[in-house]
Amino acid sequence: MINEHKHIQVYKGNIVHSPSIDRLETMENGYLVVNKDSVTGMYQKLPEKYQNCAVRDFGHRLILPGFVDLHFHAPQFANRGLGLDKELLPWLEEYTFPEESKFKNLSYAKEIYPQVVHALWKNGTTRSVIFASVHKDSTKYLLDLFIDSGLGAFVGKVNMDRNCPDFIVEDSTQSLSETLEIIEEYSNKSPLVRPIITPRFVPTCSVPLMEKLGAFAMDHKVFIQSHISENQGEVDWVKELHPESVDYASIYDQYGLFGHQPTIMAHCVFNTEKEIQLMAKSGVYAAHCPNANYNLASGIMPVRSFLDKGVSVGLGTDVGAGHQVSIPKVMTAAVQASKIKWLESNKTLEPLKLAEVFYLGTKGGGKFFGKVGSFEPDYAFDALIIDDRELGTLDLSLTERLERYLYIGDDRHIEKRYVAGKEVSEPKKTS
Ligand code: GUN
Ligand code: FE
Repeated sequence: MINEHKHIQVYKGNIVHSPSIDRLETMENGYLVVNKDSVTGMYQKLPEKYQNCAVRDFGHRLILPGFVDLHFHAPQFANRGLGLDKELLPWLEEYTFPEESKFKNLSYAKEIYPQVVHALWKNGTTRSVIFASVHKDSTKYLLDLFIDSGLGAFVGKVNMDRNCPDFIVEDSTQSLSETLEIIEEYSNKSPLVRPIITPRFVPTCSVPLMEKLGAFAMDHKVFIQSHISENQGEVDWVKELHPESVDYASIYDQYGLFGHQPTIMAHCVFNTEKEIQLMAKSGVYAAHCPNANYNLASGIMPVRSFLDKGVSVGLGTDVGAGHQVSIPKVMTAAVQASKIKWLESNKTLEPLKLAEVFYLGTKGGGKFFGKVGSFEPDYAFDALIIDDRELGTLDLSLTERLERYLYIGDDRHIEKRYVAGKEVSEPKKTS
């Protein structure tokens, strides 16, 4: 009896999670039974068979799933809040490429990347999907930092071999061989941290490069991330570069980079109906990054259209085009953006509800990692313990306490973070 429950942990508190986009489930003074790394069940009354297990009682606190960030540029961290009066292409040229080029030196990565991992930890982002830079050594260093931290992540070495400044452009052959080296070294190094194929976007990737990256993804079963249709100038440029293609999505699709392995496309502000349908059919995830889209005056993604057509949607901070690391801040920005979109669409595209964006920032993005983002049975126990007493009365429904925390709470209210059943301690901010 005792032995059978050796790996069981029981957590008690005010539990809130989203098993589906239209269902926020709450349980006051509930029990979460966790076996090693994953959830066994959620109970209002602890079943008899667990009566002898130790219970960790979090009292009045909220227990939420960890936040999931589907789009984050680690080498842009030091640039947060800079150059945000520009649009995408000048911002890339004047701010982003120069900053990213500094990661050629591993010593610079050692200065910045520990701060990145620390910031994700602090903000309760238990899983993230990360663009590194083109530099192999700095990318490996970031992968190792995540492995040491206990947080979950996909980390991609960026590929770009055309239409960018000399100080950052890659030689195509080297770009591919270094990508392969990272895939081989890191694919099986850690259950929580994996490499991901990361062509920056069509304008900076030659056709042979995209073709070979697509083949790598298939041959090595590696997931894929990129950008699509963020800004009108970008979309026009892609048309000029690829007059032979019917649209932006079909270029990725043609080269095996559009759902041939699980794929995330960031932004999706200007996709056509046909592209959205292809995303739904191919299982391509859209990473909605409203903060970044406001900052760079890109536009507003019509998230409701994507959801209605069956596309998997998650949220991204898109640091550094996004200025904040917090996924709750992206959730609330997504509600605000959707309300403006609703007005713009003559009230045809229903605004997002808070429960819906909470789903997008937990299970919606979490699906990319497998059974992640809710407290259903067999889901990884990724959780945050939140003490929201400072925010006001606790005499509210749990749904209201969640709403209030998402709008006006912050990292100071997060007391503990768990990933796959383990508490994650504070990572070092310096190397
Ligand atoms: N498109 C290509 N590269 C980038 C980038 O670094 N940030 C954003 N927001 N969009 C991009
Ligand atoms: Fe981005």
